[in-house]
Amino acid sequence: MSKLQSVRGMQDVLPGDSARWRWVEDRVADVLDRFGYRQIRMPLLEDTRLFARGVGETSDIVEKEMYTFDDRGGDSVTLRPEGTAGCVRVCEQHGLLYNQTQRLWYRGPMFRYERPQKGRYRQFEQIGVECFGLAGPDIDFELLQLTAELWRVLGVDQAVRLELNTLGTSEARSAWRGALVDYLRPFEAELDEDSRRRLERNPMRIFDSKVERTREIIAGAPAFDHWLDADSRAHFEHLQERLAGAGIAAVINPMLVRGLDYYSRTVFEWTTEALGAQGTVCGGGRYDGLVELLGGRPTPGIGFAMGIDRLLLLAQACASLPEDIDRAVDAYLVPMDDAASGAAFELAGHLRSALPRLRVQVHCGGGKVKARMKRADGSGAEMALLLGEDELASGTVTLKHLRTDDAQQTLTRAALIDQLRGPYG
Ligand code: HAM
Repeated sequence: MSKLQSVRGMQDVLPGDSARWRWVEDRVADVLDRFGYRQIRMPLLEDTRLFARGVGETSDIVEKEMYTFDDRGGDSVTLRPEGTAGCVRVCEQHGLLYNQTQRLWYRGPMFRYERPQKGRYRQFEQIGVECFGLAGPDIDFELLQLTAELWRVLGVDQAVRLELNTLGTSEARSAWRGALVDYLRPFEAELDEDSRRRLERNPMRIFDSKVERTREIIAGAPAFDHWLDADSRAHFEHLQERLAGAGIAAVINPMLVRGLDYYSRTVFEWTTEALGAQGTVCGGGRYDGLVELLGGRPTPGIGFAMGIDRLLLLAQACASLPEDIDRAVDAYLVPMDDAASGAAFELAGHLRSALPRLRVQVHCGGGKVKARMKRADGSGAEMALLLGEDELASGTVTLKHLRTDDAQQTLTRAALIDQLRGPYG
């Protein structure tokens, strides 16, 4: 049998990188807490019909990217390609929407059978936010303010820009759709293959084409603005005023349509030029018809999701991660011989409870003193704490600085804790 490998497009996160993931995820979770959003945890597998109906039969995701299979009972299930439809399902199933507003978030892996490349994977991580029961543009503004705060906290705010559009109501879109198809029909033979297919099923998505000739043709298409309904226009203008008032710059992009079928009114993306082709780090918008489409009462909704894989690449490109992120251990505790091993574990427990931010590791595996000290150095720790016969007899610890020339000290336990309280208390 040939050597087993990970499935294509699915990444392993090794110990060196997991601290980076945690750094991004913890900061995002902290901002969400500070805005008063509550986390939900959803299954990775859902009934396939949820996505077919929710995300849309004509979306790329449902047409060609889902991991769908029959389970052993013969039911068709799908590994979630995104979180919004599942979140609506959860809220409906548990009665979270009736006469209530909700501000929720979730995180975890999503699965799409896409062509893998840098920043695009078949299993990728998202953190998503969904708000329900709020129809006005104030919540649209809040979400954009929240995302702007996230970029500031992650140190990537200089590298991203906000693109914004409105898709109006579904009535306005269907009126426009007719005009769009009439305009595109004479160019049908010149469109790329995907766009020809979309002409029948979902012509709006032709705006997403990257093929140059298609883009030239679409540039001359009738603008949606002409069909935009008055309420959606007022909603969009209000949002833009709020953003301008808060100093959040936005580029209006009439070509921004998004790849999922549930959107209405406000849609947005935060993009960057620092990552090459996969430059969208966050996307979202309003989906006022989705709850009803999935069988609930009409309930306005809005949300977004960000790709954590991409955000991490961006934070690295912006050099915003702390320099010592790779360090897992602050103090490496070395019993100088096997007789001191029990005392070392006891001391480690004492230090962990007295100094909650100190990361302590005890040397395991025995060996000569030289080998133990080599391991202390290899651990990346700032300091080694040595416990030998003398220290045990006198109730002291020897502190050896591993990264500076500072003199070694022998201290009582109490004095050691006092000394470390500043950085680690
Ligand atoms: P989406 O635009 O499909 O929206 O995905 C959101 C983000 O997930 C993207 O902007 C990107 O950063 C990341 N992403 C998507 N596909 C991949 C991939 N193959 N590899 C790596 N990262 C990827 C949604 O999923 C909507 N549910 C967002 C939403 C929530 N709209 C309203 N509420």
